[in-house]
Amino acid sequence: MVSYKKLGLVNTKKMFAKAVKGGYAIPAFNFNTMEQMQAIVQAAVETKSPVIMQVSKGARKYANPTILRYMAEGAVQYAKELGCKKPQIVLHLDHGDSFETCKSCIDSGFSSVMIDGSSLPFKDNIKLTKKVVNYAHKHDVTVEAELGVLAGVEDEVQAEESHYTKPEEVIEFATKTGCDSLAISIGTSHGAYKFKPEQCTRDKKTGKLIPPPLAFDVLKAVEKKLPGFPIVLHGSSSVPQEHVDTINKFGGKLPDAVGIPEEQLRKAAKSAVCKINIDSDSRLAMTAAIRKHFAEHPEHFDPRQYLTPAREAMKELYIHKIVKVLGSNNKL
Ligand code: G3H
Ligand code: 13P
Ligand code: ZN
Repeated sequence: MVSYKKLGLVNTKKMFAKAVKGGYAIPAFNFNTMEQMQAIVQAAVETKSPVIMQVSKGARKYANPTILRYMAEGAVQYAKELGCKKPQIVLHLDHGDSFETCKSCIDSGFSSVMIDGSSLPFKDNIKLTKKVVNYAHKHDVTVEAELGVLAGVEDEVQAEESHYTKPEEVIEFATKTGCDSLAISIGTSHGAYKFKPEQCTRDKKTGKLIPPPLAFDVLKAVEKKLPGFPIVLHGSSSVPQEHVDTINKFGGKLPDAVGIPEEQLRKAAKSAVCKINIDSDSRLAMTAAIRKHFAEHPEHFDPRQYLTPAREAMKELYIHKIVKVLGSNNKL
């Protein structure tokens, strides 16, 4: 058993309470590689922001659970090396799919876990979440749960259509499970194709897709039922057009990729939404930089040559999200 406290990590409790009060959201960035981790830490230190570094089941499979755990420990030391005296870094399991996975993460130094029972019937979701909460709280680890199903693919969780969270269920769910935060479904979804073209309108001048607005009425109703309770938004990449254009210009093929407009996330961050998950945007920034680099330097083959601009592009993206969208800068 390794406690996250020994690794210099923190759980989400105080961080979320402060964010809800302060009307901003904590960035939750997924990572799979060293370059992503470095860029996240550099961005958080430069902006003096707390940060959640999250690891999916797929990331654990790709990079190896032990390596990712030590990378998070390294992230704390790296932040100190960069001049941050008291980094606030959370290591979080994203979309945990079983009690066993959550337990294994808690036992190996995670400070926060998500148990995603959103595809289960309401009662089974409560039962599984409660089991994870009971174990996690013994170790002062915080737990994110999910109610309502996002459209698209949630790791192993498949949903044919979006099922918004039912506000009338949230009090019973939060009370019975004891979870520390709740991910809700208000129209976001995972990946770079969040909406089908037929769900959007098209800008007459540019031909670009304009997505439908998020269901802020559902968010408001949830907030009313659970005042001050930390709410989480998954699937919150904005799919920056500049990166999509760069990818397409240099040989990629991402037609009609569309995300959540940043002004909607800004609005959400000012409410009880205190954690916003972003993964796809970092993938797009990285891919755009690498494609551009290869197109301009076909003779290069040293990974450091193309991963340096990729890391820079991700850092720039993270700083933009922190300062211009979530508002978590200067909150350490
Ligand atoms: O919610 C999904 C995250 O973007 C993680 O995706 O399972 O491909 O690592 P992944
Ligand atoms: P995006 O695919 O919109 O980046 O969402 C990431 C996410 O929700 C991770 O859990
Ligand atoms: Zn997610």
